[in-house]
Amino acid sequence: MDLQKAFGEQKVLKGISLEVRRGETVAVLGRSGGGKSVLLKLIIGLQTPDGGSIQIADKEITQLDENQLNEVRKRVGFLFQQAALYDSLTVEDNVAFPLTRHTKMSSAERNNRAHELLADVGMDRDLGKMPSEISGGMQKRVGLARALALDPEIILFDEPTAGLDPITAAEIGDLIVNLKRKRKMSAVVVTHDVHGAKAYSDRMVLLHEGNIAAEGTFDDLQGSQDEFVKQFFSYGSR
Ligand SMILES: Nc1ncnc2c1ncn2[C@@H]1O[C@H](COP(=O)(O)OP(=O)(O)O)[C@@H](O)[C@H]1O
Ligand SMILES: [Mg+2]
Repeated sequence: MDLQKAFGEQKVLKGISLEVRRGETVAVLGRSGGGKSVLLKLIIGLQTPDGGSIQIADKEITQLDENQLNEVRKRVGFLFQQAALYDSLTVEDNVAFPLTRHTKMSSAERNNRAHELLADVGMDRDLGKMPSEISGGMQKRVGLARALALDPEIILFDEPTAGLDPITAAEIGDLIVNLKRKRKMSAVVVTHDVHGAKAYSDRMVLLHEGNIAAEGTFDDLQGSQDEFVKQFFSYGSR
């Protein structure tokens, strides 16, 4: 609520209030450099806000120490802008990594779980491959499987479809819809792909110059008379 973040003189977020209900998917749109990634990092406690509050499942997270934050982070999946897989681990071990770190599962249980998660994203045939041996779209899928490993209540996606061809991007979008249906998670998806976001989000928030320029369904925003909203949507549909 009322989140503020500046880097030196640059005010990136000037007071953002965003609420995500259980099971809801909110798309956060905005121009490059508009503070979308910063917003996600604040939500997960990777950066600290200059002002404002953040609650995850009724818990205020801005006051927590690193140990307490780690507990919260277990409940929040994060798919980074770059899939950020560990280069030296196989696909399977990448997905099992959070399980090794945060659970007491046996290695057989971890492997089973990794297999299951990879099947959910259509990657179970590539268990033994290294990240360098699979395409960007496949890496995103694996990153998604890893983000889901601890069965998070909330998942944050940073531009899950950026840099992918339109077909692969649509596949990732479908995956988001299906996962949400299956697991009833809340999700925040940062993107500048207006039409992709229409397919998988319940609500959209458009950031502009550190504030929320508009908020609502795709139809609400498309019908907006606000100059920036109109501009964003007209470029987004070309
Ligand atoms: N750790 C940082 N230190 C200084 N400036 C940063 C840092 N992280 C982000 N910024 C700046 O904040 C602005 C918003 O960045 P970002 O959230 O990554 O934008 P985007 O909406 O494209 O994800 C950019 O101008 C960026 O340079
Ligand atoms: Mg970004």
